[in-house]
Parts: sequence; structure tokens; C-alpha cells
Amino acid sequence: MTQDMIQTDLNSVLSHEEIQAIDAELAHVPYKSGAAIDALKIVQAKRGWVSDDCLIAIARYLQMSAEQLEGVATFYNLIYRRPVGEKVILFCDSVSCWISNSDGIKAKISDLLGIDYGGTTLDNRYTLLPVPCLGACDRAPVMMVGEDLVTHLDEARVQLLFGQTTEANKD
Ligand code: FES
Repeated sequence: MTQDMIQTDLNSVLSHEEIQAIDAELAHVPYKSGAAIDALKIVQAKRGWVSDDCLIAIARYLQMSAEQLEGVATFYNLIYRRPVGEKVILFCDSVSCWISNSDGIKAKISDLLGIDYGGTTLDNRYTLLPVPCLGACDRAPVMMVGEDLVTHLDEARVQLLFGQTTEANKD
């Protein structure tokens, strides 16, 4: 495949802005594969997740196999390989949060939003995912809601945050 063909193929999947942003990252790394996580983040920032087509296009651009890039995406658990809601709830399921009743809080969230881990609410506002320690163990239990870290979770707090979305997400 010639460089022109690769470029045409890429342009049909990735936007000019995405390719430019990936190029900017490539300027800082000695090997193209060194920009893998940043390239995945760039595409996800625009689209919310990384589709198979995008993953293949990025892999070609970085001269990696799709399998290699998939491995990076899978290892880095903040790359979403399926569509997600407008906000992703990253709920800490590690030990400090667990001993502070994170299981009970998670059950309350699932009840309010009608979803379990991996699920997205019917109104597409939230996707709920487990994550390892968020580094805020002294304020456990904690979660991220989009860009916001929410600490000292209890059932009342969760009710306040998600209670109004309950009706919209009932079958
Ligand atoms: S264990 Fe939950 S933030 Fe560390």
C-alpha cells in the first residue's frame, strides 16, 4: 500500500483535525507506537469511544498491527471500545472503598440508574464502569462522574446526584 493510499484511507475514517493532533504527539516520541495511547485518546475525545474502523486506521497510521493497538486499548482501561453515555461513571472497586461500603453505594447507583457495570442508561446520560483505585482512598468511597471526582459517597449523596434520572430510565 502506498503512502497516498494510506492517507486516503485514513481521511475517510479519521478527521483532518484528529490526524493533525496525532502528528503533534508523534513529534514527541522516538517511535510511532509511542503515541498509541495519545492517539486513542485524541480520537475518543472527539467521538466518545474508539470504533473498530478508527482503531484500524490509527494502527495503520502508527505502523502497528490492529492487534497490537487493541492490546494497548485494552490495557489502558480508560479507552472505550464500545459506545458510552454522555458521562462515564468510573466507580472505584478497590479495597479502601470496599471497606467503606462501596458495594452498597454501587447497588444504590445501579438501582437508581437501572444499569449494572458495563451498562448505559436508557436516556444515554451515564455509563457505569468499575475501575481500580482512583488514588483518593482517604476520601473513600469515591467515583468519577465525567471529569469530576466525587468523594465520601453515601446513599444520600448518590440519591441527590442520580435520583432525578431514575424515572427516565425505567422500562
Ligand atoms: S481504593 Fe478507592 S480510591 Fe483507593
